[in-house]
Amino acid sequence: PEGLRYYVNSCNKETTWRRPSLSAEAPQRPLARPVTSLFKTHNISAHAIKPHVMFRLFYIILFYSRHCCYISVFLLFLLQINCVTFPLPGEGPEQQLLKPEEWSYCDYFWTDKKDPQGTTSVAGFEVLLQKQLKGKQMQKEMSEFIHERIKIEEEYAKNLSKLSLSPLAAQEEGTLGEAWTQLKKSLHDEAEVHLKFSNKLHSEVEKPLLTFRGDNFKKDLKKYDHHIADLRKQLASRYASVEKARKALADRQKDLEVKTQQLEIKLSNKTEEDIKKARRKSTQAGDDLMRCVDLYNQTQSKWFEEMVTTSMELEKLEVERIEWIQQHLRQYTTLRHETDMFNQSTVEPVDQLLQNVDPAKDRELWVKENKTGEVRPVDMDI
Ligand SMILES: *[C@@H]1O[C@H](CO)[C@@H](O)[C@H](O)[C@H]1NC(C)=O
Ligand SMILES: *[C@@H]1O[C@H](CO)[C@@H](O)[C@H](O)[C@H]1NC(C)=O
Ligand SMILES: *[C@@H]1O[C@H](CO)[C@@H](O)[C@H](O)[C@H]1NC(C)=O
Ligand SMILES: *[C@@H]1O[C@H](CO)[C@@H](O)[C@H](O)[C@H]1NC(C)=O
Ligand SMILES: *[C@@H]1O[C@H](CO)[C@@H](O)[C@H](O)[C@H]1NC(C)=O
Repeated sequence: PEGLRYYVNSCNKETTWRRPSLSAEAPQRPLARPVTSLFKTHNISAHAIKPHVMFRLFYIILFYSRHCCYISVFLLFLLQINCVTFPLPGEGPEQQLLKPEEWSYCDYFWTDKKDPQGTTSVAGFEVLLQKQLKGKQMQKEMSEFIHERIKIEEEYAKNLSKLSLSPLAAQEEGTLGEAWTQLKKSLHDEAEVHLKFSNKLHSEVEKPLLTFRGDNFKKDLKKYDHHIADLRKQLASRYASVEKARKALADRQKDLEVKTQQLEIKLSNKTEEDIKKARRKSTQAGDDLMRCVDLYNQTQSKWFEEMVTTSMELEKLEVERIEWIQQHLRQYTTLRHETDMFNQSTVEPVDQLLQNVDPAKDRELWVKENKTGEVRPVDMDI
């Protein structure tokens, strides 16, 4: 502030002690394009842009002299959707995926999703949370399904057991009677097999599916939800500050311009003093805006980091869930195969005895036990 004033050309970084001529100050940056040309370049109709796209303005005060204030306005065109800042398609360097080839959650849920009516929008993170909740529900429903399966087995076993005690045809005799008795007994064994199957289904499939991730899971999800939502709220409030600071700067800018013009046409002799004041205020407003943008940037960075870590955590949870269910459904098929095998072993003795059924032997036995006399009649003697 005490030394000699020197000038910096922000475009080519040249410095000079002498105030550059006006023509040298003409904005050379291609960024300083009129807004409408950008709309055209990106094929955006101004109408479509209304609620969600805004433009960040960076006012950088290059230098000012006694009578004029030269302000270079840099327009940085960015897409702002629900207070999150995105590069405008085609502008800036291409972004690389964080985890290419993996279809990772952390790469695909940055934008908010509009519902079909277009009235409300859901944060990308919310979509991930909904997937988790749905997964939990599916796991619960699978457990319910297995429960129904178990009930069928139990009822079937009960029916078999009951039938095996039936007195029907209990008096069949011989080898056929033995086979019949075995057949009835096999129903009882089979019932045991089904009962065992249903017990194992309960302890090895239904219960694990039901208890996998207890009530704490939903609490954990809520924690994640609140954490990320809080960061978004912070971001929105920082965004509002930026907007406010931007407007304040624009007002200061306009004020300064008016006063500069007033001086030029010598409306008042107080203007020089006013201009100094206005200049100071304008610089301050510029600083304010920078500070607000900086805070906004910091919050957005924090949100970004938390989104990456948390979405990868959710991704891990989903892999675990799928593998857990896969493992227990495999257990179901294993038990089912086992049941078939045991089931078969209960009918094997019946088959054996059926093979042994021998009408001749049965006749022999029966005759032996029930014969009423083997002495045949003879002719009458005269
Ligand atoms: C068990 O028996 C009852 C009638 O006694 C029948 O209604 C039911 O369908 C049977 N259940 C199975 C699984 O066989
Ligand atoms: C300039 O201001 C002084 C007081 O500060 C006043 O006496 C004078 O009349 C003003 N001149 C003009 C041209 O307004
Ligand atoms: C805000 O972030 C952008 C992008 O990282 C950066 O270019 C810019 O300098 C930052 N602005 C402030 C004021 O921190
Ligand atoms: C057991 O075998 C019987 C016939 O022997 C069959 O009807 C039933 O479906 C089998 N049960 C299972 C669980 O395989
Ligand atoms: C045949 O003999 C057995 C054994 O003594 C007996 O239990 C059964 O009642 C007899 N059958 C008839 C029809 O008498």
